[in-house]
Amino acid sequence: MYEKRLAWSVLFRLFHWAFALSIMVLVATGLYIHYPWSNSVIEGSRSFVVAQVRYVHFVAGFVFISALLVRLYLWFFGNRQEKLWNSAPGTPANIKNLFSTICYYLYLTDRHEQRLGHNVLAGTVYILTIFVSFFQAVSGLWMLYPESPFWGSWGVSLFGSQAQARFVHYLIMWYFSIFFFIHLYIVIWNDVKDPEGLISSIFTGRKFFHKDTIS
Ligand code: HEM
Ligand code: HEM
Repeated sequence: MYEKRLAWSVLFRLFHWAFALSIMVLVATGLYIHYPWSNSVIEGSRSFVVAQVRYVHFVAGFVFISALLVRLYLWFFGNRQEKLWNSAPGTPANIKNLFSTICYYLYLTDRHEQRLGHNVLAGTVYILTIFVSFFQAVSGLWMLYPESPFWGSWGVSLFGSQAQARFVHYLIMWYFSIFFFIHLYIVIWNDVKDPEGLISSIFTGRKFFHKDTIS
């Protein structure tokens, strides 16, 4: 009765977990860099906590940038579900899916289209997240290499000054923190409502469908 279909490639799943785990580390270390609360207690003797936390932040930052580049590659060269246009609100069918998903999430209807890839509401938020990640990467690289002419020219055109880049970098940290909780809530909610096995799909790559409902 149910068919098991491959939705996500190995590379996509690696991207997801590299991205998710690096962000968890980046938020934790970023908050510490913003407010280094341990400073006067242990800093200055044999340990140098701020430097160590900054180092972890930069290593996780490069994992984050690598994951971002992999996602950009998959937008154009991934499988059908992973391509940018599969879940972007750019076609009449996708715009219809966007609104029907909003109605479904607001409990206005129980009917919704079964899709192998993301629904378009999720897809739109994910595209926004990748877009925001780009600003996070550029602001981070400009703070890390303040004298580089390359990052300097990107930095000045996007943020104006280093102080503003740092402020935007900090605000985007809150975007990711809020995204994290809403994302978890929605994937668990979907997993409870639908028998497709959404959460396991991000580990196994496979979803379950009634043979005749898939699009
Ligand atoms: C820790 C538990 C997590 C679980 C169980 C989880 C699960 C999932 C699942 C099931 C999907 C596919 C959903 C769909 O088809 O709409 C997904 C996609 C995604 N998740 Fe997570 N996730 C987790 C953490 C995170 C974190 C921490 C982030 C980043 C802050 C994140 C970012 C994303 C993004 C950006 C996508 C879309 C990928 C794309 O198509 O570009 N996830 N996640
Ligand atoms: C989701 C991704 C990221 C998050 C949530 C994040 C978060 C933060 C936060 C909250 C701060 C403190 C800002 C402040 O003082 O107000 C910070 C600082 C910084 N971040 Fe990130 N960051 C991320 C990605 C990156 C990346 C990709 C890089 C570059 C490799 C980077 C490099 C830096 C640098 C250089 C600083 C300044 C350190 C200092 O002044 O001591 N960050 N980050």
